[in-house]
Amino acid sequence: MATTSNPTKIDAAKISATKFNDVRNAIDRLSSDARTADQLMEGITELLNEQMLKYNWVGFYMLEAGANPPMLVLGHYRGAMTPHVRIPLNQGICGAAASSGKTVVVDDVHKDARYLACSLETKSEIVVPVFAGGNVVGELDIDSHFPAAFGAEDRKLVEYCAQLVGKHLERA
Ligand code: SME
Repeated sequence: MATTSNPTKIDAAKISATKFNDVRNAIDRLSSDARTADQLMEGITELLNEQMLKYNWVGFYMLEAGANPPMLVLGHYRGAMTPHVRIPLNQGICGAAASSGKTVVVDDVHKDARYLACSLETKSEIVVPVFAGGNVVGELDIDSHFPAAFGAEDRKLVEYCAQLVGKHLERA
């Protein structure tokens, strides 16, 4: 039996690597073209939601200035409307990411007691804090209709986006 590889076989891993690379390049272009962090956040939500098939809801929550107790407030987003426009730090996966300053990846939201339901279709979620001047100032939240949608490459991409926003905020 011939052992040569089938030239028509689709190399899914290669296509996926190219996709991450293309999206990262597009994010870099957005970041250098954006005049403000707000513009960059809007562009990121649009690009990730359109280009990444499993990123069904993409949005930023930002910490309200001077609020006591601290409050996450919904900013730019793409996807279905959410009832969670304001989230205290002791609630939700969003609150957990902002209060710990750590990325939270949840493969099955229905098994996570912290989860605040946004859409019945959501199966998995990633929330990445945005830092500026060493402090958490907000976060990038992505929901997927697919279970365990966020692997290591997704995490790197979303953390990269959050870092770029943080850098823009520091410059403002
Ligand atoms: N699921 C989030 C709430 C925000 S919606 O996903 C848009 C949470 O558990 O904090």
